Amino acid sequence: MKVLVVGGGGREHAICWKLAQSPRVTELYCAPGNGGISQVARCVPIKATDVEAMVRWARENAMDFVVVAPDDPLALGMVDAMEAAGIRAFGPRANAAVIEASKAFSKELMRNYHIPTARYETFTDLSAALAYVRRQGTPIVVKADGLALGKGVVVAATVEEAEAALREMMEDRKFGDSGARVVIEECMTGPEVTVLAFCDGEHLVPMLSSQDHKRAYDGNRGPNTGGMGAFCPSPNYTPEIAAACMERIFLPTVRAMNAEGRPFKGVIYFGLMLTGEGPKVVEYNARFGDPETQPILSMLDTDLMDIFQACVDGTLDQLHIQWKPGAACCIVLASGGYPVNYHSGYPISGLEEAEKLATVFHAGTKLDGDGRVLTAGGRVLGVTAVGANLEEAVEKAYAACRPISFQDMHLRTDIGRV
Ligand code: AMP
Ligand code: GLY
Repeated sequence: MKVLVVGGGGREHAICWKLAQSPRVTELYCAPGNGGISQVARCVPIKATDVEAMVRWARENAMDFVVVAPDDPLALGMVDAMEAAGIRAFGPRANAAVIEASKAFSKELMRNYHIPTARYETFTDLSAALAYVRRQGTPIVVKADGLALGKGVVVAATVEEAEAALREMMEDRKFGDSGARVVIEECMTGPEVTVLAFCDGEHLVPMLSSQDHKRAYDGNRGPNTGGMGAFCPSPNYTPEIAAACMERIFLPTVRAMNAEGRPFKGVIYFGLMLTGEGPKVVEYNARFGDPETQPILSMLDTDLMDIFQACVDGTLDQLHIQWKPGAACCIVLASGGYPVNYHSGYPISGLEEAEKLATVFHAGTKLDGDGRVLTAGGRVLGVTAVGANLEEAVEKAYAACRPISFQDMHLRTDIGRV
């Protein structure tokens, strides 16, 4: 099979790495890909959001199957466009990807179908939003409605902070049109767990539970990032909690999407908070998480191509998905200054040494004319190791980070330990 993966980060490297192990994948392409992905797939220089060019290329090059990994092309309807061109594609259609692309939609879905989540109100009017915050008091959570690279959420400790966030989103349009509408919700407390699940429109199979580390610095301090590291499975996610999530959250979500005429095929991402009142949904995403995918796919024993096809065919119930025992951990090596401002183009050394100890997924890298690997983004690498237990996986991953260096390299030293 000729397979194209859309995207170019660490998540896409992990997906390509896993697909390259499938005997059924004879030719693997990735658009746009990155320096590391080019070691396992042929990179095609098309932007992930260029739906028209992507479909044209996939048709002209006779792709049998396309995997759309990032949120923007999903929200833009890339899966719909591939299907219209007669190409099988993995990922939700635009009408289902809206579960991530609009928080107002997902909150209303949860309200209507009694899926546990934080209480909330939606606003398009700044003064009404401000009045609501003053009435509710703090702490309170302010969210831009649309996609904002995971950065459109402010957990405000004071009314002033909430006001500032609302003004930035609604008045200054810090996130563009994503902030035209905001969701204001109750602040929940408890450990956070992520569960990704394969979905074929009807059946749902959860992957191993995971946890990511969103803040830039040790001790969960500093600005929110796309994720500085992740591990799986989460020790907080007991079999009892898993059963409760399946019954009260996962299956009701799949049924709700069907009832709305928006069957979900692809990976659904449940961001959960384990509150005193039971597990509740913090957010849905319509795709694999980054960096959660790196440790999760490192633990997968089943052929990923078989799973993707079963999701598209609606036959997920016939597949037995297997996981390795133990745990996996991914540590992100980022450019100094990420996520605020940083420089790129620095050579990376020590990769070969690291690869003897762990799998090094590339997030933001490129090759120069001589084949040297250069930094090319905020998150640069995701060093990922598997161990007999979490402690061992964490230790192995950190040991593999040691030989790697590039100018201003930044990593957290407490991944999997907090
Ligand atoms: P989101 O982009 O919706 O996942 O939000 C980013 C982060 O903000 C989450 O991982 C939580 O840590 C935090 N957060 C979001 N919503 C809430 C909430 N209602 N209560 C407490 N924390 C929240
Ligand atoms: N790691 C968070 C996300 O992928 O949205």
